[in-house]
Amino acid sequence: MKIGILTGGGDCPGLNPVIRAVVRKASVSGCEVIGIKNGWKGLIEDDTIPLTLNAVSGILPKGGTILGTSRTNPYKKEGGREQTKENFKKLGLSALIAVGGEDTLGVASKLIKDGIPNIVGVPKTIDNDLSCTDYTFGFDTALNTAMECIDKLHTTAESHHRIIVVEVMGRHAGWIAVESGLAGGADVILIPEIPIDMDEVCALIKKRHGRGKNFSIVVVAEGAQFKQGSMVLQEEKLDEFGHVRLGGIGEILAKEIEKRIGYETRVSVLGHIQRGGSPTAFDRILGTRFGVKAVELVLNKKFGRMVALQGNKVIDVSLEEAVKALKTVDEEIYEIAKVFFG
Ligand code: F6P
Repeated sequence: MKIGILTGGGDCPGLNPVIRAVVRKASVSGCEVIGIKNGWKGLIEDDTIPLTLNAVSGILPKGGTILGTSRTNPYKKEGGREQTKENFKKLGLSALIAVGGEDTLGVASKLIKDGIPNIVGVPKTIDNDLSCTDYTFGFDTALNTAMECIDKLHTTAESHHRIIVVEVMGRHAGWIAVESGLAGGADVILIPEIPIDMDEVCALIKKRHGRGKNFSIVVVAEGAQFKQGSMVLQEEKLDEFGHVRLGGIGEILAKEIEKRIGYETRVSVLGHIQRGGSPTAFDRILGTRFGVKAVELVLNKKFGRMVALQGNKVIDVSLEEAVKALKTVDEEIYEIAKVFFG
């Protein structure tokens, strides 16, 4: 049996542990694995590398993906869908393991109905916004990176008696914001799920200063929106999946806070630092468990499924279900975070 594996969309720590686990499990099961380079682009262009045991040796602690990635959508490229199907056949693949987020797995879900039924999905993203799984790998590492940054920003905010606005990633879900804010002891956390009320934000900061705490940390998710409408200048250009490039809300928020209440404010945009670095133990283990499970699904011909973590069990769910809607922050965790606001 010949299994193909690709990693698509934004990279994240934990992709290499998945690749390694797929190759190791396939090897003990008598299967060959080929790596498709740069996500769906590699399948369109027939760009592959053999994944031997030696090729994946030593990659467990490495961030990023040895296969490379891209935000290529075969459905948005002239002849892309046809090329993808043709190359799948030409490569003699019995199955494909697609490792990605909502976009990459959305394409996988379409292809399953559209001529490549033998696909299994593995959920990755620092945003943790995929449905049907409690966690995606990559999130824990990003969360810990953001928390460490917040810890560092705390000491300088305190010394200078400043407010520091920390802008974190997460696209349209506030998971990184709410959890890094909770772990880092943020004084206000703003997420895309709840429109920002500037009066409330300023009142919380003033309340804190009123009890003698003359510095504050405000964590804002890049996808958060103001109640009175967008003040964020977003790049007009859309990627092949229709996403705008987010970013900039921290700057606007910081200016608005300073203008309204007069406290000296600075902004720190964490950006792609959150996507880099060596995966945490949690992400290495989750990626490894997902990789092994994905090969088991292939061996058992359970196609159209996505591996998922529910509770402490790695199970499989319908890939189609998993990409139907985003998993946004639930009220319960935000209510806990709010206890520490102001
Ligand atoms: O989906 C992961 C993510 O890092 C988002 O949090 C962010 O909005 C986006 O990717 C950034 O994408 P790019 O690397 O293409 O700028």
